[in-house]
Amino acid sequence: MAVYEIKHPLVQHKLGLMREAEISTKRFRELATEVGCLLTYEATKDLPLETTAIESWAGPIEVEQIQGKKVTVVPILRAGLGMMDGVLQLVPSAKVSVVGLYRDEETLEPVPYFEKLVGKIEDRISLVIDPMLATGGSMVATIEMLKKAGCEEIKVLVLVAAPEGIKRVTDAYPEIDIYVASVDRCLDENGYILPGLGDAGDKIFGTK
Ligand code: PRP
Ligand code: URA
Repeated sequence: MAVYEIKHPLVQHKLGLMREAEISTKRFRELATEVGCLLTYEATKDLPLETTAIESWAGPIEVEQIQGKKVTVVPILRAGLGMMDGVLQLVPSAKVSVVGLYRDEETLEPVPYFEKLVGKIEDRISLVIDPMLATGGSMVATIEMLKKAGCEEIKVLVLVAAPEGIKRVTDAYPEIDIYVASVDRCLDENGYILPGLGDAGDKIFGTK
């Protein structure tokens, strides 16, 4: 297991723009897509390659192609959808497994309401996407669903995480890698990440 905080200047610049209090829905969405794309680039850096023979313009040559397991993207509704286009820009043939969870505002515990996973998920690598990893309850519940369905290889991609959420996920699933644009300071008394992004779902969907 490892936590990869992606310090690439493009990631840090775009995340900084997302933290503006008065950002528009359009801009927040665009940036969530872009940072989602950059996190995907990092999270796929260890996909194994295999050599294959092709006929090129200059005759037969060998090229590298990704081998083995295919990918399923797992957005956690709602806010995870805001990163999905960014993932699919780099992995356009990925299947999508949707998990619906919301966080009870009183208890902060996740409440599941939807699950539609791809078939034969045991043959795929899951890239779970959600902008926010706060208490970690939603992520742990999602990983439990995926494991129960037979998925063995899971990576987590989040824009912002609280140390509390990282600890909860890594305590429960020490084997899972987390790719995050920023590990922020802490949670406030309402379970919001500080400084965080505010309510990411509301910002992506323009609700509130
Ligand atoms: C947010 C966020 C995560 C969850 C993180 O979703 O997108 O799914 O909270 O909190 P946790 O780590 O404490 O579980 P929310 O429940 O607000 O739902 P939404 O995506 O529908 O807005
Ligand atoms: N969900 C959000 O959207 N933001 C937070 O800071 C925590 C949970």
